[in-house]
Amino acid sequence: MPNIAVVGAQWGDEGKGKVVDLLSSHFSVVARFQGGPNAGHTVIFGDQKFALHHVPSGVFRAGTRIVVGNGTVIDLEQLLAELETLRQANIELGGRFFISDRAHVILPLWKGLDKLRETTADATSKIGTTLRGIGPTYEAKAARWGVRMGDLAELEHLEDRVRRIIEGPAGDRLRDAGIDPGQPAAVAREAHELWKQVAATVTDTATLLNDWIDEGHGVLFEGAQGTLLDVDHGSYPFVTSSNTLTGALCAGLGVAPTRLTGTVGVFKAYGTRVGSGPMPTELDDGPEGNGQKLRDRGHEFGTTTGRPRRCGWFDGVAARYATRINRFDGACVMLLDVLDAFDEIDVCVGYRLDGEELKTFPASIAACERIEPIYETLPGWKSDTTAIRRWDRLPAEAVRYVERLGEIAGTEITMVGVGPDREQSIVKPGSWLSRTLDL
Ligand code: IMP
Repeated sequence: MPNIAVVGAQWGDEGKGKVVDLLSSHFSVVARFQGGPNAGHTVIFGDQKFALHHVPSGVFRAGTRIVVGNGTVIDLEQLLAELETLRQANIELGGRFFISDRAHVILPLWKGLDKLRETTADATSKIGTTLRGIGPTYEAKAARWGVRMGDLAELEHLEDRVRRIIEGPAGDRLRDAGIDPGQPAAVAREAHELWKQVAATVTDTATLLNDWIDEGHGVLFEGAQGTLLDVDHGSYPFVTSSNTLTGALCAGLGVAPTRLTGTVGVFKAYGTRVGSGPMPTELDDGPEGNGQKLRDRGHEFGTTTGRPRRCGWFDGVAARYATRINRFDGACVMLLDVLDAFDEIDVCVGYRLDGEELKTFPASIAACERIEPIYETLPGWKSDTTAIRRWDRLPAEAVRYVERLGEIAGTEITMVGVGPDREQSIVKPGSWLSRTLDL
């Protein structure tokens, strides 16, 4: 059975949730390997719309096993709220939902520290985080004072761990700002009580996953955020705190690289970014400009924070970089219909920096800020693609556009999205995804 990763190729929000939801019927297991409630997957299923943060998008397929891996960070209250929404929609999770006992827990004071840092940072160093406590939780993990799901079982031990955190430097940072980091006994008890509600699902998911793969079950690995938000390979320091690229699934789930049989990159047909940091193709061209037109047509407001997303043309240099470090076997181009109303569409095919042409995405933020994108202009198709369900019915200009994106990015375009619904997806016949999953 194939074991395939679905990974964001830009700055997140590319439409991974929809791709995972669509492909998940071909896999026994869907597993998330990094990130936490900073992620927001919107899945439209019939007349119902679900905004998921923790729970992988594959949850809507009855019987599919769902794993939240050790590389993720968990806000128990948020997780329980999502599970409750699913329960109310009669989505049965019994016996098929598993959380790693090694996943780190977002304690209330990690959220407090995230907010404190963002509100006190000056304009140039604000990351524009989702304020969900993601950074401080991963920091605590690396500093080796974090609390893991498995630590929540024994109250006495947990209280001791929490006390060291609250009475230590992390608590001091909040106290110095006049914020109460909480009482260790109360914080520990609250976490323990929340844990009880999911205790039956907390387990050694690495062992489970490897057993399932050995038994011949296929796993769909669901990435969160996007490659350009990767803590190593993204636009550092304006990134998230986890590795988001394909390779992260090995550490984030305890699955060897040799288990992976393919990787799908998910691109949006244009570019968006939420939060601070460089975005070379951003269109800051006023209320009547193309940037606003992309935002309006694409409903570009964050699923997690509601913030308006920064919009711009497709960045081919960043796309090539993402393809290279993830080694995509094929790519999906989502939200193609957003471009239905444009006469012409620009695509960034190169970067110029201080008069020189750059071949790849630079490490230096100062360099990123000075980049001048080199654009190629392609004709639009000026027709509604949302009702199209076959590749050979797409307007010729639309096919030319996506094929050109594939050439620039260095990967085969294997699927396009023409609307938010599960049905509004077109797999290219004979392409990698179609051959691999017999779609
Ligand atoms: P954090 O992950 O909350 O620490 O936020 C760090 C940066 O990543 C900010 O610019 C966020 O806007 C961005 N970010 C985090 N998660 C997502 C996501 O799921 N989609 C898009 N941007 C995200």
